[in-house]
Amino acid sequence: MSGRSPTTEHRSAGHLLGIEGLERAYVEEILSLALEHRQALKAGTVESRLAGKLVANLFFEDSTRTRSSFEIAAKMLGAKVLNWSPTGSSLSKGETLLDTVRNIEAIGPCAVVIRHRASGVPQLVARHVRCAVINAGDGIHEHPSQALLDAFTLQDRLGSLEGRAILIIGDILHSRVARSNIHCLRLLGAQVLVSGPPTLIPTGIDALGCRVVLDFRSVLRQVDAVVALRVQHERQAQSFFPSQREYAALWGLDAAAVEQMKPGALVLHPGPVNRGVELSGEVLDGPRSVVMEQVSNGLAVRMAILERAT
Ligand code: CP
Repeated sequence: MSGRSPTTEHRSAGHLLGIEGLERAYVEEILSLALEHRQALKAGTVESRLAGKLVANLFFEDSTRTRSSFEIAAKMLGAKVLNWSPTGSSLSKGETLLDTVRNIEAIGPCAVVIRHRASGVPQLVARHVRCAVINAGDGIHEHPSQALLDAFTLQDRLGSLEGRAILIIGDILHSRVARSNIHCLRLLGAQVLVSGPPTLIPTGIDALGCRVVLDFRSVLRQVDAVVALRVQHERQAQSFFPSQREYAALWGLDAAAVEQMKPGALVLHPGPVNRGVELSGEVLDGPRSVVMEQVSNGLAVRMAILERAT
């Protein structure tokens, strides 16, 4: 090992560890850069701004959207990509997380993109490496790139988010997307409401600046968008509601609920969707759903994040 001091703190200015504590100007810069990248993607004029650089994807937890789009974002910008995964790695021989990341860093990436089931891992890693660290989702803590692509998608469809009302429904307790979205949407001037089974609304969540709504149907007519969250069975050690059927009936968004929303109001979901639970198939594939746009926009937003980080 390099023998580097474990207190090598935040040498890189480019970390994206969470939305909490960011300046509004940073978020606006990413959204504006993402717009530039989306236009370049459409026009086929993307510049190789990361040519000669290496980005390492370190996904200790499964992913479809985030891993794929960070990989393609890096490649679109001309970087080489190392896709490391725990399966087949020397973690099985007892190598620690930090030693693993330090060894990957020794190969020379300008940025490591990390997802881990434990909250705080990207923050820990950032204290031990010199390259930029990008949080691709840590436990129940934050998922900043998801919040940025959600904000991009909302802004793209609705214009300025100043004064807009966004309702987040579902498993708030285990949702890193909810936490990052609350911070990001508030930073951009939106009013954030949260709702879901009372057992899945953490005590004190209103301290983040959102309003808890017990009956989400009572505010459907007022909101500009609903973000439905996935029920995170893998993070639930106990039952928080009687059954999926009950969840779908009480907290799922079906065509009748969407009918109550005002004209132009949107439906979002970070994915993966439990089809028929958080969203009915009709709503997921329906005209108000921008779920696939979120995924498409994720590429341009992650290009912006990588460019800004490196
Ligand atoms: N939204 C999201 O993080 O999806 P993946 O788990 O597929 O990356």
